[in-house]
Amino acid sequence: MARKKIVLVGAGQIGGTMALVLAQKQLGDVVLIDIPQTEGMPKGKALDIMEGRGVMGTSCNLTGSTDYADIAGADVVIVTAGVPRKPGMSRDDLLGINCGVIKTVGEAIKKTAPNAFVIVITNPLDAMVYNMQKVTGFPSNKVVGMAGVLDSSRLACFVAMELGVSAEDVKALVMGGHGDTMVSLYECVSVGGIPLPQLMSKEKFDELAARTANAGGEIVSLLVRGSAFYSPATSAIKMAEAYLLDKKSVLTCAVKLDGEYGVKGLYCGVPCVIGENGVEKIFEVKMNAAEKAAFDKSVEACKKNADWVDANA
Ligand code: NAD
Ligand code: LAC
Repeated sequence: MARKKIVLVGAGQIGGTMALVLAQKQLGDVVLIDIPQTEGMPKGKALDIMEGRGVMGTSCNLTGSTDYADIAGADVVIVTAGVPRKPGMSRDDLLGINCGVIKTVGEAIKKTAPNAFVIVITNPLDAMVYNMQKVTGFPSNKVVGMAGVLDSSRLACFVAMELGVSAEDVKALVMGGHGDTMVSLYECVSVGGIPLPQLMSKEKFDELAARTANAGGEIVSLLVRGSAFYSPATSAIKMAEAYLLDKKSVLTCAVKLDGEYGVKGLYCGVPCVIGENGVEKIFEVKMNAAEKAAFDKSVEACKKNADWVDANA
């Protein structure tokens, strides 16, 4: 059976990290693509990882390119093309510039990889994945955004740190848009199967939820140049792996809602099942009145940017 083809459009901080993780996991052959101005960068990153295959014990092939024609026949395309935030910028500040980038990339994917599962990472995430599905015209089950896996992992990390337990044993759920309005659900956090309310006060949880909503900004202010890239990379690979291995993983992804949560035609982060058909099921989580109001507010934030895309892209 031929190896799968995984194309990373955007070979920057996240793209390069994903290439290394993909090589270690041997999920398929990897193509790193970036713009011509970056000249040899994608080729250099691909060759660098190739040269480490003996040490890593992996045999997949990696190539670099600045030609969108090399997207052809991709099984999975993961898109980080665009610009990241600088200190003081919100994700929404990237809307205009990254919208144009996603349009260009989406047109190339539509032309050369019609059967691909497309995972968008570029910010502002919910608007960019909305734009990607619109430009490609792909069925919405094959176009998803990576954010909720990262945000939920961040919350789980902060809970684990607070309780002094392994992050492996903490499962959390953060829904809504990938921005300040994201919603962390107190009763949906499990610590080794124990519901969090049995172990942590709501007040303390709310502190950790606030840190989660600002986690991206916290790292941007620490790095100064660029934004988080290790955990975004591993989060996207978890989604790609669920698709490639038909894992039926339950992951919070930005998916196109078609009536779920009373929302239609909009991308927003909700828990879903990812398997060989992409988004195979969307779960409707029961929320209390405060959580539902916060989720509705987050949906509104996603709608505002989607409306901008419809009016300007
Ligand atoms: P980066 O600047 O390191 O990499 C982006 C790469 O995209 C660059 O190498 C750039 O040359 C390339 N690029 C630009 N236009 C392109 C095009 N038309 N075609 C192909 N490549 C193109 O940035 P990064 O740190 O990898 O972040 C990438 C994006 O991901 C940013 O928008 C960032 O805000 C976003 N992000 C999202 C999440 C999330 O949870 N969804 C998390 C972190 C970062
Ligand atoms: C983050 C931003 C950059 O969450 O989306 O790291």
